[in-house]
Amino acid sequence: MTTPAPKKLYIKTWGCQMNEYDSRRMADVLAPLGYKPVEEADDADMVILNTCHIREKATDKVFSDLGRIRDNKMEKAARGEKMIVAVAGCVAQAEGEFIAKRAPYVDMVFGPQTYHLLPEMVVKATGQRVINTEFATENKFDTLPAESGNTGPAAHLSIQEGCDKFCTFCVVPYTRGAEFSRPLAAIIEEAKRMAGGGTKDITLLGQNVNAWHGENGETLGDLLYALHDIDGIAQLRYMTSHPRDMHDRLYDAHRDLPKVMPYVHLPIQSGSDAILKAMNRKHTAADYMEIITRLKKGRPDIAFSSDFIVGFPGESDSHFEETMALVGQVEFASSFSFKYSARPGTPAASMQGLVRDEVASERLARLQELLRKQAQDFNSACVGKTMDVVFSGTGSKDGQLYARTPYNQAIHVEAPARLFGQLARVEVTGAHANALTGRVATAETVLAA
Ligand code: 5AD
Ligand code: SF4
Repeated sequence: MTTPAPKKLYIKTWGCQMNEYDSRRMADVLAPLGYKPVEEADDADMVILNTCHIREKATDKVFSDLGRIRDNKMEKAARGEKMIVAVAGCVAQAEGEFIAKRAPYVDMVFGPQTYHLLPEMVVKATGQRVINTEFATENKFDTLPAESGNTGPAAHLSIQEGCDKFCTFCVVPYTRGAEFSRPLAAIIEEAKRMAGGGTKDITLLGQNVNAWHGENGETLGDLLYALHDIDGIAQLRYMTSHPRDMHDRLYDAHRDLPKVMPYVHLPIQSGSDAILKAMNRKHTAADYMEIITRLKKGRPDIAFSSDFIVGFPGESDSHFEETMALVGQVEFASSFSFKYSARPGTPAASMQGLVRDEVASERLARLQELLRKQAQDFNSACVGKTMDVVFSGTGSKDGQLYARTPYNQAIHVEAPARLFGQLARVEVTGAHANALTGRVATAETVLAA
């Protein structure tokens, strides 16, 4: 008996780490149906666009890709072959009906809470269109199959989804739904399985990762202590945190646990209390500075990154200068900054005091110049230091391996291929704006995790 040829599955992922994790899980769910991931959409049997709605032009980008995919689908149809086209993620959640209407060749439209239903939806979609933007009552994590055997040396583990914060600019509470935490035991089990498969560097993911809580009131800090005990895991990271969800045990974890990397991605959005209030962030600039001070106290070498929005409605020159001053004070290792983009249906979209586009662009350029300089300075200060890293990919040149430093910088290291997947001590030899270079530091390079 011959086994049928695998069906080709092409998934394109936009936006956040959460989406990347979701795409991997979608591939896992579809594997038992015979789908195997491929790199090109042209000849795929199924194409999934996993979309992001957080900033503008999201829907335009999806339609521009869909145009090409429709041509591929027609070419296949001419050869008597089928291609299932699906739009997933937050654009699907927010604009499902619109997509279905404008793109009749799309077979499936489904939101982030429905991936565990994919097998059923695929079977249905062979006969009819499927649109599913429900917030399912059952929990998708419980019904998804276990993470596929080998997650690689460095991998993500999603522990929390959704958001109840309702920042006035943000669509996430509407597209991803309410905050939901996976149970502690399920996370530990998945982490052990990952460690057993050779994963040494785990990044815990959540829209509001430090709002995670266990059924018995455990916090992210508690979870880090529990994960720290798992043999084989060498490095633990987490993102994205919210200043309002910092807690004692998390500070303790940074102070006490060597496997918890000295790096926190902690968006502030603005340095002005008036703007933070209009954004409904429920914290002040001083609260943020206190968090930074306390984390540094426990772990003096800790580094920070943040997200910023400029040109929020009502942002004056002096509000913006407060953001610049805060950035000057903190000195971020890396950051993401964006021009405010009105998202339909969010409270900020109907606020007065729109900032002219040229003004917002000018502010963004100034902020980005400062953040770029801080990142370059931070990277330069690393040259000559040694760091322990897990090699998780090939480097940009032959004879190099790729890793993330404890401060989340990309590093390309001259290293023998046999060190792939290992934890090794490296010396930083060079710094660029976006990455470091290095070499293996000692003869006995492979450290026990
Ligand atoms: N406009 C601009 N940036 C936004 N972000 C979220 N919503 C918007 C918006 N409407 C940014 C925030 C958030 C990051 C993921 O995206 O900085 O932290
Ligand atoms: Fe959006 Fe605010 Fe929730 Fe972050 S905390 S996902 S910015 S609503």
